Amino acid sequence: MELKETQRGIWSSKIGFILAAAGSAVGLGNIWRFPTVAGRSGGAAFVVLYLFCVVIVGLPVMIAELSIGRHTRKNPVGAFEKLAPHSGWKYLGVLGIVTGIAILSFYAVIAGWIIGYFFKAVGGEFQRISTAAESEMIFTGFARNPFYQMLLLGIFILLTSLVIWRGVKGGIEKWSKILMPILIVILISLVIRSVTLPGSSKGLAFYLKPDFSKMNFKILLEALGQALFSLSLGMGTMITYGSYIQKRDNLSTSALYVCIFDTAIAILAGFMIFPALFAMGMKPDIGPSLIFQVIPAMLARMPGGYFFGIGVFLLIAIAALTSTISLLEVPVAYVVDEKGWSRSKAVTVMGSIAFIFGIFSALSNGALEFLTKLPAINTSFLNVMDTAFSKFSLAIGSLLESLFLGWIWGTAKAIEEIEGEGVIFKYKKVWIPFIKVITPLLILIIFGDLLRRTFF
Ligand code: TRP
Repeated sequence: MELKETQRGIWSSKIGFILAAAGSAVGLGNIWRFPTVAGRSGGAAFVVLYLFCVVIVGLPVMIAELSIGRHTRKNPVGAFEKLAPHSGWKYLGVLGIVTGIAILSFYAVIAGWIIGYFFKAVGGEFQRISTAAESEMIFTGFARNPFYQMLLLGIFILLTSLVIWRGVKGGIEKWSKILMPILIVILISLVIRSVTLPGSSKGLAFYLKPDFSKMNFKILLEALGQALFSLSLGMGTMITYGSYIQKRDNLSTSALYVCIFDTAIAILAGFMIFPALFAMGMKPDIGPSLIFQVIPAMLARMPGGYFFGIGVFLLIAIAALTSTISLLEVPVAYVVDEKGWSRSKAVTVMGSIAFIFGIFSALSNGALEFLTKLPAINTSFLNVMDTAFSKFSLAIGSLLESLFLGWIWGTAKAIEEIEGEGVIFKYKKVWIPFIKVITPLLILIIFGDLLRRTFF
């Protein structure tokens, strides 16, 4: 057993695992998607529902995924096959693999934008911005260039592949350890600039004062999708990462730390974006380009803005990289474990598929009119991918995972795994009713309302 574990790769310590899982969780989901979705979903009302979903769905499902992963020591497909042999459950794993590649394909586009904006920061382009309109013009010109968009996407997929190539410990763990704290310091500096801009108080009110009349199931669905996306849940990332945890580590407390840390960074990103956004008279619901319009305009108004600009885009790029690594690791672990592929072949094939699909998202923000405004639905290809996979696939995955754990594998066996080597799972009495009933029920209710809204 020991030998097998070391062959497959294993985190060197509990803190190493927490950092790697936090590295997976913290990324564009927190810094790009959270403000984007909060902005179009009514601000503070969304934030309240988001926190609700982290607690009711996120934390219980994270504990579920980690325990399945550590118990089986497998990728999602292998894990479900092992716990429920010759049943349909392995297709839940397959859904996870497909979702991982699909999310990677558009995620790497946004990550490519971060790289592009890093170069702009180095070139001093943002120092000249004086109005919100200029900031918008820079973005539009940037996103319209098809070759540059494809190049940036390619660079990001290549970077991800290079790290995955080197395996679990050498690659993933080391990065997360050093850079996460620096990112937090830079974010806090930008938050201070944002909240001290004249006119920022309107933004604080938008972000912090919930208008309860704005709360509805539509926003709850947005909040659910965002919570799962941000915590890397619903497609087996945490099954795969859990498969590399040591038996003596307490995975329930690790899950708690990761949830708290990830949520704190998202909340911080909101404090960075919304006060500045309102101070500069921009609209909160402009969509995926939101942070790319707000951050540069803010840097132009900041002492040392040139250096903060370089720092912030570099570190967001690295945070995105520790997330894309976890997205690509799932399909890679699958073909390595189950199909006996070599790691390098797996990385090359899976990375290429993500790149090819990513091209459609890369060209859908102004470069190709057809993909930018898809006929009939009038939205971009990137938005369609994001909706299909972040909102729906992750929620369905989480629903089925909690039902699987609660009713097929059984909470007793899961708890036995969590408490494996003398660890105490303090909150098991609370976790059991959640994972069996409350968590899946909430997801079902949200989907039930969606069906009602669509068909009746
Ligand atoms: N959670 C990451 C972020 O916030 C993105 C991510 C990594 C992810 N792995 C995932 C999202 C698995 C959903 C599922 O940026």
